Amino acid sequence: MRSLTIARPDDWHIHLRDGAYLSTTVPDLARVFARAIIMPNLLPPIDQVQAAEAYRNQIIQAIPPGIRFEPLMTMYLTEQTSASTIVEAKKCGFVHAFKLYPAGATTNSNAGISAIKSLYPVFEEMQKQGMHLCIHGEVTNNEVDIFDREAAFIDESLLPITKDFPKLKIIFEHITTIESIDFVKEASNNVAATITVHHLLYNRNHMLAGGMKPLYYCLPILKRNKHQQALITAATSGSNKFFLGTDSAPHPRSAKENICGCAAGIYTAHAAIELYAEAFDLVNALDKLEGFSSFYGPDFYGLERNKDKITLTEESWQVPATLKFGEDILVPLRSEDHILWKVNNST
Ligand code: DOR
Ligand code: ZN
Repeated sequence: MRSLTIARPDDWHIHLRDGAYLSTTVPDLARVFARAIIMPNLLPPIDQVQAAEAYRNQIIQAIPPGIRFEPLMTMYLTEQTSASTIVEAKKCGFVHAFKLYPAGATTNSNAGISAIKSLYPVFEEMQKQGMHLCIHGEVTNNEVDIFDREAAFIDESLLPITKDFPKLKIIFEHITTIESIDFVKEASNNVAATITVHHLLYNRNHMLAGGMKPLYYCLPILKRNKHQQALITAATSGSNKFFLGTDSAPHPRSAKENICGCAAGIYTAHAAIELYAEAFDLVNALDKLEGFSSFYGPDFYGLERNKDKITLTEESWQVPATLKFGEDILVPLRSEDHILWKVNNST
């Protein structure tokens, strides 16, 4: 039986939701990951330091006893966000990034940004304070095909931002295309990207061929196989510009299996590192998993790498059909199916 011991990983992009949902999402995440960048797209959005602090306390309450886990908070950029909010967030010490959602791009993004240029004074302050910027990079213009929205965002917004703020640390979140990989590779060392495990394991055929499957619907949407292959190559390349961000994003089953509009998001927190191990193993690149999962993220965020370790063993196990999710139920990725790796001890 093969096994692999790596430094404990962190998740650099996750949605935990709030209230009763935290008793599912936080234990699943903290089972393996030491820290995580917590997305702020709640209703209402986390756009004030006080709200980030209250949310952080809720998350800490949900950590199972005896487990060490640190939520790294983010705040939501709105058109009302001011430079003084950036200063206040930097000072508090627990806010590690601001998240830019183009208005209407995804779940709970209505309070997001319509005119990115209006944020320039805020970016200026972020650059000055060394505050990281996480970007959901998709245009929202209805005339742009949903499969082209990420690539269009690069030319329309990302290139100008990186040119105008060369010292701003930018994370191009959950990238899904060859164009994005090329952009990140060519950009300065102040630009990096997270890659989800679902974009490594699946492409749009999994979602659309042989019957449409809401389980696989997420944003940015799964792309063609050639993009999936390029993402695998980037993630397993050993480049420190690409690191782990699950974008695990739970929705109740009723919101996913809804003929009037399936909610975007895939729940992977129950088995995230095991699924990444599968994806890396498929291309014989398990030796590259530790850098991607445990080193490049903290390096980019200017944090220490974790010192403790986890061990993955090659051991098939079956994922439950559903998980409890507050008063609702949730269908996790690989529901009723098998996963080939397991974390069964930590040292
Ligand atoms: O699929 C997604 N789900 N993409 C996002 O950008 C947001 C997320 C969510 O919050 O549900
Ligand atoms: Zn996300």
